[in-house]
Amino acid sequence: LWLLAALAFLGYVLGSVPFGLILTSLAGEGDLRKIGSGNIGATNVLRTGNKKLAAATLLLDMGKGLIAVLIAWIMTPPVFSTRIAAATAVAAVVGHCFPVFLGFKGGKGVATGLGVTLGLSPLTALTGGIVWLITAKLTRISSAGALAGFIAIPLTALALNGFKINHDPKVLALLLISILIIARHHANIVRLLSGTEPRVERKKK
Ligand code: G3P
Repeated sequence: LWLLAALAFLGYVLGSVPFGLILTSLAGEGDLRKIGSGNIGATNVLRTGNKKLAAATLLLDMGKGLIAVLIAWIMTPPVFSTRIAAATAVAAVVGHCFPVFLGFKGGKGVATGLGVTLGLSPLTALTGGIVWLITAKLTRISSAGALAGFIAIPLTALALNGFKINHDPKVLALLLISILIIARHHANIVRLLSGTEPRVERKKK
């Protein structure tokens, strides 16, 4: 049990690292929380106009989730590893959404969620990632892509588990993570429904 607590704590702390905020501030773009939607994720970094910085944020936020889960897999004896990796995955997304370093005011967990999904179930992450990209591309609305992706992810995990929610902690973890991510998008959902959610601008540079 102490191993579960230790790795979940590590996941939470790793998930708490706000790469979007750090990178924008290092690049001299100012405080990300005062730009665009005020969110600390890659989508909002893109609103600074710096595509490379947004891509780096996406990769690092995914990376911290993936690394947390991989550490959990490696450090745990096989009998417990699935359960502990699943708990660490949830903790990392909770960390991104409620980071200890930012007074618990964090992001929406999309990139981190995809990273931990990759660590738990690569095939599920691939499906979710494809649904996310296609939806975002078609609608040019980042939140719509994220929401579609995180509806596809628990459904895929459930399908891969023969539509049984029990017996696999990964399915439960991905379900919890998706619920958290969708809940974090409540303001986006209201805007999507009223047709006022901004589209990603096509950048000329
Ligand atoms: O990944 C977050 C995205 O889905 C929405 O971000 O900044 O448009 O609220 P934002």
